[in-house]
Amino acid sequence: MVYNIAIDGPAGAGKSTIARRVAKELAFIYVDTGAMYRAMACYLLDQKIDGQDPDAIAAACSGADISIEYKSGEQIVLLNQENVNSRLRTEAVGNMASLSSANPKVREHLLGLQRGLAASQSVVMDGRDIGTTILPDADVKIYLTASSFTRARRRYKELLEKGETCNLEEIQKDIEERDRRDMNREISPLRQAEDAVLVDSSEMTIDEVVAAILDIFREKTKQ
Ligand code: DC
Repeated sequence: MVYNIAIDGPAGAGKSTIARRVAKELAFIYVDTGAMYRAMACYLLDQKIDGQDPDAIAAACSGADISIEYKSGEQIVLLNQENVNSRLRTEAVGNMASLSSANPKVREHLLGLQRGLAASQSVVMDGRDIGTTILPDADVKIYLTASSFTRARRRYKELLEKGETCNLEEIQKDIEERDRRDMNREISPLRQAEDAVLVDSSEMTIDEVVAAILDIFREKTKQ
């Protein structure tokens, strides 16, 4: 039996941490679709494509061959056969991913890969349009969110721990700008699917969110 759990929500809501943990508990594969958009952004940056030029993005994106491998349970993203995991988490890549993911050609390019992964094995897949577009028949759909202040504070702490200098207000502004772009784009905007369960993690610990999602899964699938 193959099960699909879709977790959507805005940047910084804790989707990847939570999705990875839920997948581990259930021995499912974790699929981070944001990483695929980030790999595409790496390719576009390498090609010196202007993020504000949709025609150039549409023309270039078919040159990015993106695939996924798993090593010791970790997702490795391959861009034209090269492991790009270490390049995915910079602000430049995040901003390019946000701009280019609004492009229909980019989304079309990644849709087949995402659906293929979920068809053949049980997955916890996180992103923005998993419950609404990629896996409309997912067994469980979660819309995971938190206030923009909470999300900015989490990101701020992460960057400080990495030794980077940063400004909390700027991070919050950046997050709100990214939300606006993700929620208002024409194609596959970020929104809660009608049959998704809303989980607001602002006042919850990671353990509490994981437990809540496992309960929802067990209840829905009578596991
Ligand atoms: O979740 P993330 O920050 O790694 O995602 C990077 C960008 O990709 C983000 O701006 C939204 C976009 N994205 C998307 O449009 N659809 C998805 N399923 C996942 C990510």
